[in-house]
Order: sequence, then C-alpha cells, then structure tokens
Amino acid sequence: MSIRIGRTLPPAVAPIGLGNVVHGLFAILQGNKAQQSFSDQLKEYFKVKHCFLLSSGKASLALILQSIKEQHPEKDEVLIPAFTCYSVPAAIIRAGLKIRICDIEPETLDFDYDELTKHLSAPNLLCVIPTHLFGVTADVPRVREILGNRDITLVEDAAQAMGGEYLGHRVGTLGDVGFFSLERGKPFSTVEGGVIITNSDELAVVIKSHIDELPSYTFFEQLLLASYAIVISVFSHPELFWFPRSLPFLGLGETHYAPNFSIKRMSAFQAGLARGWKDRLNQFIQARRRNADRFYRSGIISAGGGLPHTNDLIRYPIMVSSKGEKQSILLESNCFGLGLADVYPDTVDCIEGLRGRDIIGDATKARSIIERMITLPIHPYVTESDMERIIPLVRKAGDFVVGRNLEKSKEA
Ligand SMILES: Cc1ncc(COP(=O)(O)O)c(C=O)c1O
Repeated sequence: MSIRIGRTLPPAVAPIGLGNVVHGLFAILQGNKAQQSFSDQLKEYFKVKHCFLLSSGKASLALILQSIKEQHPEKDEVLIPAFTCYSVPAAIIRAGLKIRICDIEPETLDFDYDELTKHLSAPNLLCVIPTHLFGVTADVPRVREILGNRDITLVEDAAQAMGGEYLGHRVGTLGDVGFFSLERGKPFSTVEGGVIITNSDELAVVIKSHIDELPSYTFFEQLLLASYAIVISVFSHPELFWFPRSLPFLGLGETHYAPNFSIKRMSAFQAGLARGWKDRLNQFIQARRRNADRFYRSGIISAGGGLPHTNDLIRYPIMVSSKGEKQSILLESNCFGLGLADVYPDTVDCIEGLRGRDIIGDATKARSIIERMITLPIHPYVTESDMERIIPLVRKAGDFVVGRNLEKSKEA
C-alpha cells in the first residue's frame, strides 16, 4: 500500500476528547463509583432492570452465551447471520458452543426469513442473534414473532448500534438480552468496552454470578488504556489519521478471527471516559444522520432496506455493480484518503480459523455482499468538502445497486 500524507478519513470513528481522558484518569482514583454511575445512567436511558459493564462486545457476548447455556445445558447451537463481525463466531467458540448460520438478504442485510424459519426447528438451538450490522436495524420483532413460544433465547447484537431506534424502541432492548460494543469504530467509544442489558431477572442472576468472578483491569492496564485514548483522540483526526494508517503493523481495518480474547469487568478509567456519554452519543448520531442524508439526497441509497432500518447507521453501506468496480473505487479512495472501506472478507463458514468445525447453514446470498459491498464514512469528522469528493467518486461508478428503490425508501 502506498503511503499517503495528508487529510485521510477513517472509515468510522466515535471521537474521544482529551478532556474525556482527564475524566477517565480522575475516575481511577474514585474506586468503582464511575462504573456504578455509568451503569445507572444506562439503565435509565434504556429503561432496563439490569446492566453489566465489560471489557468488550465479544466479552459481553461470550458471557451472555455461557449464562444462557447454564440455563439450558441440553442445547449447544447458536444461530447467527452468515455474514457478521468475526468476533461473533469467536465468542460462540469461546463459550464452548456450536455455530449455525442463517443466510442474509443483500438488500436488507437481515436474515433470509424463510431460512430462519427452517433453522428454528433444530432441536439443539439455544439462541438466535439478530444483528444490526453497520447500524442497519434487523427486524427483531419479526424474529420474536417467528420464534413464538419456542424456548430459544433472543440475543440482540447491537454492538454497532448504540443509540439507534427501531419503531419507537431503543435498539438493544428488543430481544431477551442485548449487548453493545464501545470499541473505537462504534457509535460511542471508551477505547474498548462492552455493555449487556436485559430485563430478565433469571438471566441477570446468572450473568452477575459470572461477572463477580471476572478480573478487573490492573492500574497499569488502565494507564495503557489512557495512552490509547490519547492516541485515538489525536490520531483519529483526519489531518493526522494518515500516520497510523501508514503503519502496517497496526493492521488498521484488518479483520481477524481470535477466540482467545480477555474477558474482564469494565475499568473505572473507561467508565470515567464515558462521562457525558448521552450528549456526546446524541451529537455523533445527529452528525451521522446529516451525512447519511447528504448521500441519500445525492441519489446514493444505502443497502439496508430503507427507513426505518437505516435511520442510525455508523457506516453507509452500498452495493456497487461488480467486484472489479469495488476494487477500483477502493483504490481511488485510498489514494485520496476518502475513508471508503471494505467489509468483512468472508462469510462465517469460510473463516480460516474455523476450518474443521461443523458449521450448519448456507451463505450463498451473503457471499454476494462480500464481492460488491463497500461502506462510505458518515462520522462526525466528515465535512461538506469531503462529501464533495466522495459523491462524484461513487457516482462515477455508475449504476450501483441499492437496497430498495428511492421511492420505496421515501414511503417508509
Ligand atoms: C456485529 C458485532 N458484534 C460484536 C462485536 C464485538 O465487539 P468488540 O469489538 O467490542 O469485541 C462487533 C465488533 O466489531 C460487531 O461489529
């Protein structure tokens, strides 16, 4: 990859200010007060009874799965979309469970519901994980309706969708249990972090018993997080992002399957860093909505099936006409630092690290997403002059295919 010096947009970022880092450092001195306060605020915002703070989204998912497994020891399969973040299968394997995949529709990025219905008759199915990929909301109420009174837990993967809404409900509260990621490319970030929310008292008791056993970050690890936070705060800015991006050993934008992640309780530093999170999250959401709307008004329609699913995106996913077109757009974006990005490189059944495992299910439609999907940046650092460079590049690609046609999206 050639080195580019100059304004370079990250594909996605939730800005962290140096003032936030100072709050985080103060919180270290205050014991567990910051975590308690963050958790109370989250409970109030999501109107849920239980909230748990962890070190990452995958740690949250692994813990949820372990806990559900304890409630249903006779079952061991977890149904996930055939195309999702590699951390999801990693968390399933980490919890000692088996992966089952359901194909997804390229137009909606949501389950193929005929396929889903067939999967639900699997006798060992422990839970289903609808996922709000890129912030495109999955139709969780529809999954619930299809589930009926089967004893299968609905786990909502809202890792990429904190603050989003679907039909008047906050995303993350639509399933039996939901989780968010607070990693740096997510709607809101504490460098790394995870949040579990649920209204189920039974599940909460089991989750809590596991959390009580977990290690916390050491003082040194919190200082390390503080230095990451400073680096992110400075170098995720478009004027400086070219620098970390030119360092190949950082592997920015790469996707790896790694089930041996650490599972810890969230530190005081992270919770302190989150101070003022509601206002900041809201500002970021407004900025992303404005930028997404700018693309939409320019005739660039996102995949995801239109409103209400595409209200709160963190990246703007589009399908271009061919694999060649995708490569040429990404190449040009890299040359000019426009922040267009590729999606996960494989469907779950083709992940190298999962070779040899018996993964049931089909991924035919999901594969077409990998060939033709790219994402456009809509984070708060994207300016009108960035837009004026991105829009012609995407439109030059000509006849890109979209989720649903413009009229349908407007009607919704
Ligand atoms: C859909 C989805 N689920 C789960 C995760 C895991 O979150 P984390 O990176 O915080 O472990 C991610 C992270 O990228 C994700 O995108």
